[in-house]
Amino acid sequence: MMDIDAVHLQLDKYGQRHLLRFWEELTEDQRADLTNEILDINLSEVDSYFKRAIESSENNNKILDNRIQPIDDVIVSKNTCDPVQLSKYQELGFLEISAGRVAVLLMAGGQGTRLGVTYPKGMYDVGLPSHKSLFQLQAERIKRLELMAQERHGKCQGITWYILTSDATHDATLTYFEENNYFGLNKDNVIAFKQGMIPCFDFDGKILLDEKHRISKAPDGNGGLYRALKVQGILDDMTKRHIRSVHVHSVDNILIKVADPVFIGYCLSKNADCGVKCVEKTDANENIGVLCQIDGHYQVVEYSEISKETAQLRRSDGKLVFNGGNICNHYFTLDFLHDVCFTHETKMKLHVAKKKIPFVDDEGVRHKPTSPNGIKIEKFVFDVFEYSRNLVAWQEPRESEFSPLKNHDSAGVDCPSTARRHVLALHKDWLLKAGAKLVQGDVEISPLLSYAGENLNNIPEIIQGPKVFE
Ligand code: UD1
Repeated sequence: MMDIDAVHLQLDKYGQRHLLRFWEELTEDQRADLTNEILDINLSEVDSYFKRAIESSENNNKILDNRIQPIDDVIVSKNTCDPVQLSKYQELGFLEISAGRVAVLLMAGGQGTRLGVTYPKGMYDVGLPSHKSLFQLQAERIKRLELMAQERHGKCQGITWYILTSDATHDATLTYFEENNYFGLNKDNVIAFKQGMIPCFDFDGKILLDEKHRISKAPDGNGGLYRALKVQGILDDMTKRHIRSVHVHSVDNILIKVADPVFIGYCLSKNADCGVKCVEKTDANENIGVLCQIDGHYQVVEYSEISKETAQLRRSDGKLVFNGGNICNHYFTLDFLHDVCFTHETKMKLHVAKKKIPFVDDEGVRHKPTSPNGIKIEKFVFDVFEYSRNLVAWQEPRESEFSPLKNHDSAGVDCPSTARRHVLALHKDWLLKAGAKLVQGDVEISPLLSYAGENLNNIPEIIQGPKVFE
């Protein structure tokens, strides 16, 4: 191990000596902890992160409005697609699944701050009649797809499910899956791997202490995925398993069509290396990013980074100019992921969020600030679109695709009540299409029975909830 003088030298070089200001008060164990934390940080990289992040946020604010371009002609809407063509896409997707070439990559490293839970968001139960959590719904959709692929092609080598976690979510996620026997999935096909952490800074670039012997750190954003794929050996695992198509999505969309065969088939049929599923953004104030072009490159401009004026621009037909609503739902080929991880990852954009970050002051007193006192630096998963050679965008109707769980019920939007309502409305619609005449109360359909409204046979004409079709 490096001696403490060497640590001092490193800290001096990057203006971070204050991290040791309580050294004299620390116990031997605490000293060892702090030294290890400091040694774990690549100070030269972290120093450049701060400089790059500040620079890019200043540039972003200045010039984004002049460079952002809509991409209407690129987005293909499922609604306008010929049904025969749609079933061809679906068939291609199922072939890919049955050959074992599909992986799902669930991003579940976020801290769920807005929802206000202390456990991983995937464990959240929005109060459906079955009380299934987000993780369980996703697991069962995977299981159903495997069965459907098996029925169609006589074999299914399984979907591999990679789960991106962070220090905040890793252990609890693993324990939850273990305790629930992986919801019936083959345990060998469920692989959790951790993303990295980046220290939090004050506005002058000084790293904050969370405790006298602990550095304040936060997950490196969902774009931290790419570094984690590389350093945790996940790309190698994917290669060994002969995976070709990777469906990447967020944990919080209760309607997520995990490994959607139609979307995967569409991307395959177009030879896309990168696919983006979106929904139409209709409310200018909605907190979703928009797909667009900047300087001729595809990009998502995040809701926190677009100006109000640009977000509100409307076309002559009344639609928003920037209406390709990003729902954190992407397709990548493994070749593309390789290229990103080994060629572009270190140059990825850095985003700055001003946050209220608990910290220890010079007197050693810990504060929980009520206004932003520092910054967290994050990478975003979609910041690799610019490296794509053939990006496609596929738009789906919102009611069957997207209902995110972000907030506590008091917010009234993107919360447990809306998530529950949207699932039940979709399932009611499936039942009515399958022959029911009246559906009353809360009626839910298990993903093990139906992935997207199929397989609903002998449905009674009148259905009274609460009820779960298993
Ligand atoms: C995200 C999208 C936004 C989109 C919206 C739709 C990004 C950067 N932004 O925004 O464009 O309109 O979803 O709901 O993708 N996560 C990690 N590690 C992290 C941070 C997040 O794994 O360090 C995961 C979360 O667990 C979640 C997903 O990434 O599954 C999205 O993160 P979140 O912070 O909820 O993104 P939004 O701001 O809602």
